Amino acid sequence: MSVGKSSPSSAKTSPHSTLTTTKRSGRSPLPQLTVVVGAQWGDEGKGKITDYFAGDCDFVVRFQGGPNAGHTIMVGSEVYKLHHIPSGVFYDRPISVIGCGVVINPAILLDELAALRQRGITPRLKISARAHVIFPYHVALDHCLSGHQGPLAAGSTGRGIAPVYADKMYRHGIRMGDLLEPDIFAEKLRRAYDFNVSIIETIFRKPFTEQYDDLYRRYLAFGGQLAPYVAEVEREMAEGYRAGRRFLFEAAQGMSLDVDHGLYPHTTSSTTIAGHISAGTGVGFNGSRRVIGVAKAYVTRVGISPFPTEITGEFAERLRERGQEYGTTTGRPRRVGHLDLVQLRQAVDVNGLTEIALTKSDVLAGLGDLNICVAYEIDGAITHSMPSSLRMMRKARPVYRTLPGWPSFSPAAIEAICAGGHGSLPDEVKSYIAFIEEETHCPVSLISLGPDRTCTVVRPLLES
Ligand code: IMP
Repeated sequence: MSVGKSSPSSAKTSPHSTLTTTKRSGRSPLPQLTVVVGAQWGDEGKGKITDYFAGDCDFVVRFQGGPNAGHTIMVGSEVYKLHHIPSGVFYDRPISVIGCGVVINPAILLDELAALRQRGITPRLKISARAHVIFPYHVALDHCLSGHQGPLAAGSTGRGIAPVYADKMYRHGIRMGDLLEPDIFAEKLRRAYDFNVSIIETIFRKPFTEQYDDLYRRYLAFGGQLAPYVAEVEREMAEGYRAGRRFLFEAAQGMSLDVDHGLYPHTTSSTTIAGHISAGTGVGFNGSRRVIGVAKAYVTRVGISPFPTEITGEFAERLRERGQEYGTTTGRPRRVGHLDLVQLRQAVDVNGLTEIALTKSDVLAGLGDLNICVAYEIDGAITHSMPSSLRMMRKARPVYRTLPGWPSFSPAAIEAICAGGHGSLPDEVKSYIAFIEEETHCPVSLISLGPDRTCTVVRPLLES
């Protein structure tokens, strides 16, 4: 069970050294544990924030979700889109871990690895043998379920996520380690195949054409190709933790998509919050930590659910275009809306956020005054916290405070602000940030002003 050896490449080394200089001048050392989670509905820019810290860590770990995630990282002029592989892959130092809480589509993972290799990057990747595997019948069933659930569906990414997690809980799921044990794999696949295909054909009356034998052979071959990465990674991480190694955890999706704390049933099927890092990796991490909630300066959402601050029309179109708000995984246009502090307060509490990383403030520049939702009005009553009731959420109307916007930034202005730090931000941005901090009782420690690693402002609170 070996690991792909990293080899230096221009894509890896040159932007890395730029970043290293920026970071050394602007930040105190990371603690042993840092968790990066989505504080909204996913797509907040977690990939960039993870990448920003990854070079200083020994392990960068995904602990939930699967190829429904799409993390975009920009390194110089190169853009990378990752679905399974942690965003730390562009550095030599960390081992990238796909933990046991992640669900894996081997075909997509192999494509991801091949695409990275083509661009000169050989990930130091390790995959938990306990991570569950997505099969084509999960994908087929995902489509059937979305149709069946109608207005109660989440608008899934169609990647088979709900059915694979369901199979895991039914206890006839198939794990990465099973693909390396042909007898066990055959025994388990027979059960899972018969169960899932009979639901597709009998309940949903849809065809499923792939035969058992073909599927078995194809997935056994995937197992062979991925075998070098499959490892008892739980033990290695536990030993690393004991030895004082530094960990960075990268969540997928966001708090409002968490299967318990999100807007159920319009959620994903995994636990997306910081509390899941131990269960999703197999190590009882119990030390103090930074928990960074990544939030856009506005809100986006792909899929179906109530969305109290949603906006449509010309302003929404401009925001979508400027922010390039199209799904990384599905290409769907994202719904857009004003920043929602009811949502962000919940993210602070549920995750135990120690700080917020605010992304895409540059996208709001030049758009005039900005609304921020401070509460919901539901049947004439004002609430400042997130209701669990779907009925109430369908009726929730945003209560806004309007803050002055800020003028457009030129690339040179962004460069100057990032070099100058928080003090160089326009006053309106500082007021926007101060308002978020007051309302959420959580400091904003990072402000991202563009997709590139270097377009990042670090607050003095972390430099002291
Ligand atoms: P699933 O995770 O594909 O089952 O989709 C369930 C819900 O989560 C849908 O509303 C999806 O649009 C949403 N979702 C899943 N992954 C992501 C993501 O990475 N970003 C944003 N939304 C996501």
